[in-house]
Amino acid sequence: MADAAVNLTIDDVPISVPAGTLVIEAAKQAGVLVPHYCYHPGLPVAGVCRMCLVEIEKAPKLQIACATQVAEGMVVRTQSAQAKKGRTSVLELLLINHPLDCPICDQAGECELQDFTFQEGRPATRYSPDYAKRFNPVEDFGPDVLYVPNRCILCTRCVRFMEDVAQEPVLNVSERGDRAYIGIHPDARLDHSWAGNVVDLCPVGSLLSKDFLHKARAWELDKSASVCTGCSQGCNVTLDTRDNVVVRVRPRVNLAVNRYFICDHGRMNYRWMSRGDRIEAPLVKHDGAYRAVDWDEALDHARTALRGAKGKAVALVSPTASTEALFLARRLLDGLDFTGAFQLVMGEAAPLAGVPNLALRPERAPNGTGAELLGYGKDFAAALAAAASAAVVLVLDDPQAAVETAGTLIYLGTVPPEHESARTPDIVLPITNVAEEEGTFVNRDGRVQRYLQAKPAPGMARPAWWVLAELMGNGARGTGKGIQTAADAFDVLAESVDGFAGLSYAELGLGGKTIAAGTLAGVPA
Ligand code: SF4
Ligand code: SF4
Ligand code: FES
Repeated sequence: MADAAVNLTIDDVPISVPAGTLVIEAAKQAGVLVPHYCYHPGLPVAGVCRMCLVEIEKAPKLQIACATQVAEGMVVRTQSAQAKKGRTSVLELLLINHPLDCPICDQAGECELQDFTFQEGRPATRYSPDYAKRFNPVEDFGPDVLYVPNRCILCTRCVRFMEDVAQEPVLNVSERGDRAYIGIHPDARLDHSWAGNVVDLCPVGSLLSKDFLHKARAWELDKSASVCTGCSQGCNVTLDTRDNVVVRVRPRVNLAVNRYFICDHGRMNYRWMSRGDRIEAPLVKHDGAYRAVDWDEALDHARTALRGAKGKAVALVSPTASTEALFLARRLLDGLDFTGAFQLVMGEAAPLAGVPNLALRPERAPNGTGAELLGYGKDFAAALAAAASAAVVLVLDDPQAAVETAGTLIYLGTVPPEHESARTPDIVLPITNVAEEEGTFVNRDGRVQRYLQAKPAPGMARPAWWVLAELMGNGARGTGKGIQTAADAFDVLAESVDGFAGLSYAELGLGGKTIAAGTLAGVPA
């Protein structure tokens, strides 16, 4: 039976796993990380590095844990003297030609060769200091990938990714024995839309991102769980910050969304998060000129304008705004003749051929689905036309919205409006971006996913959900009181909007949850 449980022990820990499980995966359930290089759960098994040697009772010699399936009653020892000696010898072999590059290598601090050598390598080399190590020059593989052959341990993860996952087999193992290196097809470049994943997959500093080259040492980085804003796929990512500047985006594992990968568009989509020309204080227009004010004064101005509003209200929102902000903006204008819309930048799709339902999507924003579920439409031109005669126009984080209106124009943004010809806002309220706040997005498949704050907000900027909850106060159109956190805002949303019923911010965890089946009907993909 394919799914029958198999009982075994690993380092004396009894476990029970489905038949067919690899010993290396079963070991994780026993709390044991078997050292490995060529094995990666997102790639076909190769069994080439021999680093995962373990002792299995009754087997005549050491076995590789990455290519051995569990069997009933199996007794695995990863820490026996024989297993450790085997792995120490593999490390010694790998290090024969590996240069002493750690002080200048981007991978230092997150290098599996460093880690396992520290853990179980020989304390000293047996090679003469005069031994001439293999040398090959650095190669430029593609738009964002450099290959440093001297550091390569020939694990073939990069080759297998391009062959089996990207299905564009431009890399190979050239030459044999100690002359072997990773070759690239002479007429090809490593410019596939998902090629940057080879840098993450490389267990050593052999494949490097040009974008990140020498930007930071691994131990200087703070890491925060986030969600990519590059398209509607909603890939889970980690934002790495150094001194409160985002310097790198890497995939975060989510088997239901992006598995282990992100596309290059998403990987490079981060510089704007740390741009310096942000609005840092609330601004109120008086006699045609802006005056910086504190939050109390700015909110009072906006509340006064909202309180007297009658007739039409228009919200022009960004599909990169959080679900919480989109919900509260809608609720703030409840009771008025409401029109809400967003504009979506479109691009080319770029699927990752070897992974079902994973692609750089044409909709280049993370929360168009959330916006539609909350009642915003895509007819931006009609909403702009309606703005002309609206009593209130609220622009949420869309600096490109060229608004002309006779009513009150309130702009929540962090960068200044970009249309000089359009009406300037009456009130400008500075808000945080995705790297500076917590919140959720809803991806194209209806998966609600949380992102966390990675760096401080500039100046007095506050999350949009906070600003909108403060504007609501205890107003006639519902209350913002009691909304102190993104979690509060989401939980009020889940209580109020059918599609989100049954979800809670805490239970979303960092992997997200999919909204009720059927809710997406009518929301175009
Ligand atoms: S470049 Fe990196 S991923 Fe590719 S074979 Fe060498 S060590 Fe492995
Ligand atoms: S597919 Fe979309 S969500 Fe995923 S990394 Fe690329 S841009 Fe980001
Ligand atoms: S990880 Fe098992 S042989 Fe490489």
